[in-house]
Amino acid sequence: MILDYFLGMFSNDMAIDLGTATTLVYLKGKGIVLKEPSIVALYKGREVIAVGNAAKEMVGKTPGDVQAIRPMKDGVIADFNVTEKMLRYFIVKVHNRHSLVSPRIAISVPKGVTPVERRAVRESAIQAGAREVYLIDEPMAAAIGAGLPVEDPVGHMVVDIGGGTTEVAVISMGGLVVFNSIRTAGDKFDDAIAAYLKKAYNIQIGERTAEKIKIQIGCAMKLDKADEMDVKGSDLTTGLPRTIRINSDEMAIAIEEPITKIIDGIKFTLEQTKPELAADIIDKGIVLTGGGAQLRNFDKKLREETGVPVHIGESPQECVVKGAGKMLEEQLDVLRRLSFEGEETHIAS
Ligand SMILES: Nc1ncnc2c1ncn2[C@@H]1O[C@H](COP(=O)(O)OP(=O)(O)OP(=O)(O)O)[C@@H](O)[C@H]1O
Ligand SMILES: [Mg+2]
Repeated sequence: MILDYFLGMFSNDMAIDLGTATTLVYLKGKGIVLKEPSIVALYKGREVIAVGNAAKEMVGKTPGDVQAIRPMKDGVIADFNVTEKMLRYFIVKVHNRHSLVSPRIAISVPKGVTPVERRAVRESAIQAGAREVYLIDEPMAAAIGAGLPVEDPVGHMVVDIGGGTTEVAVISMGGLVVFNSIRTAGDKFDDAIAAYLKKAYNIQIGERTAEKIKIQIGCAMKLDKADEMDVKGSDLTTGLPRTIRINSDEMAIAIEEPITKIIDGIKFTLEQTKPELAADIIDKGIVLTGGGAQLRNFDKKLREETGVPVHIGESPQECVVKGAGKMLEEQLDVLRRLSFEGEETHIAS
């Protein structure tokens, strides 16, 4: 322990939220130092030529032998090899090379990943130069990062809407009591917007444009004052570029289906929650985290459909990495215990 403390003074211990859409890195004592898309550009399917922001610029614009891929699309690690390269790139980017000591790294992983995937993430971080690796369940990290008193004998519900998955958890006394993972989140809103424009306007748009539309005028329920936006795409009949004007009311219709899936998943989780804990949730409300929590009026719709108060965590996209960082800084022993417990007793949900 003393040696650990001593080494800790010289290393750049860090927490990483390895998300399917965004990777964030929190450096001990400094806070968030990196926030980049989880995207890798590959040349001829093998050689990494760009990672993060630089790779995102290339999406949909690459020549034949360059591919921009998301190695963890849909909430699972689709490509271990590329995920490892990406993780290594981010670690090296923030790690102070003057430091002689390797860092200890806390990584949040979706609660639903298999033991094999957990081991793969651990291995990747070791390969990338970590001295010790701790894995923390994403919903737990999200709850801590949102400032919830997770150790109290009080039920709290946290809903993290990421790119690939929505994780719904009820937490009490430092543990996950009820948990569900829904494979519908921010990416599905983008897909639904693209599908809507195809059907309603006979126009095709790329995934980056769909995401831009969602961020600018997307909403889960009509806004008090509708917003408009001009969108460029290619006409499916003529193949020529065309500009159309769309509004936020249409977007509420376009993404209704994935929104309903998420709300149904949250309702199902509430139904599985024991009465005492459910009573706490009615008092304290549901806390939303993850980038998808910023979709306008999602909180309002969820409140209307469940009758439970809903709050959005502060800087929701940063909650997971902040929570993991806080554990690393303040409760290393708990983190260590939780991390290995997960590996031995984890039951895939
Ligand atoms: N202002 C916004 N409005 C709506 N959606 C947004 C906004 N900003 C970001 N998003 C969406 O949030 C999603 C990414 O969220 P986040 O970074 O929390 O995901 P992730 O942690 O990488 O994914 P996962 O948790 O599934 O692994 C993307 O779908 C992105 O388009
Ligand atoms: Mg996430």
